[in-house]
Amino acid sequence: MKPPTKPKRIGILTSGGDAPGMNAAIRAVVRTSAYKRMNVVGFKRGFEGLLHGQMIEMNARSVSDIIHRGGTMLLTARCEEMLTEEGQRKAAGFCEILEIDALIVIGGDGSFQGALALSKLGVPVIGIPATIDLDIPCTDYTIGFDTAINNGMEAINKIRDTSSSHERCSVVEVMGRAAGHIALWCSLTGGAEEALIPENPGWKAERVIQQVIENRAKGKTQNLIVVAEGVGGTQALAREIQAKTGIEARATILGHLQRGGSPTAVDRMHASVMGYRAVELIEKNELNRILIYKDGKHSSLPIEEALAVKGKYTNEMYEMIKILAI
Ligand code: F6P
Repeated sequence: MKPPTKPKRIGILTSGGDAPGMNAAIRAVVRTSAYKRMNVVGFKRGFEGLLHGQMIEMNARSVSDIIHRGGTMLLTARCEEMLTEEGQRKAAGFCEILEIDALIVIGGDGSFQGALALSKLGVPVIGIPATIDLDIPCTDYTIGFDTAINNGMEAINKIRDTSSSHERCSVVEVMGRAAGHIALWCSLTGGAEEALIPENPGWKAERVIQQVIENRAKGKTQNLIVVAEGVGGTQALAREIQAKTGIEARATILGHLQRGGSPTAVDRMHASVMGYRAVELIEKNELNRILIYKDGKHSSLPIEEALAVKGKYTNEMYEMIKILAI
């Protein structure tokens, strides 16, 4: 008779900045594991929980009523200790003591570097890409992006109401760290006339000001300029526009407003599929992989190969924004 096999034990954590949809991914992992009779232990505050024994056993009911909530029920943190070799060894040691068969890391690029280090120390890992910044080049989608751009677009809609009533120039800063994806999408969908992004470093305040003047001459009665966080200087730009054009200008920095709120259907869909697929990979012993969404399909890549993919920036979306703003 075949001896009964021990059920697999999956560890799960969310790490780095929270992203709307992380909860839907946790739910999918926990429920798929329950269906497949695997056990799940959730680590709190990302790698911090793994390093300091902050954890909870999870079952299908632990993830009730979270699919529609932003943030992460497991809490998250940016863990300095995981950047050190000592911290990585300690975390790998705990995974061994806790008999974790695979660790699912839900987060962005930084979190995946921690996962890669653990995989090299013998801890099998699976990564689920979740960051509002969309800055993981191996995948066309990261969980949280759609909610973040919808938050940005809705904020811009509101800013437009007051900006048009006062005939002002609004300069709106959106999140995105060193990437301009959020700024480009918010500009295109919000109808901005300019998107200042880190990928186009050569921009000049004089050119933006000249453009504001020209757009007024064309009959526009308000202006909207979107600035990516990675460019910054939003307040100073608004002051300079006002000083040099005489047009009232106001700066708005969306900040963490952009990262909160109930995840959109798109985010919940990707999170649910990726959470489900993560457990499937563990079941099939296809480990040390990152879930990706590429060319309209969900799949996965070996972690090292995934993290070696370099991003390519094309100006296409920027050019479209400019043409649609004439
Ligand atoms: O990576 C997500 C993100 O929201 C970035 O857009 C932003 O630069 C950063 O996190 C803000 O980090 P924190 O919440 O730690 O201030």
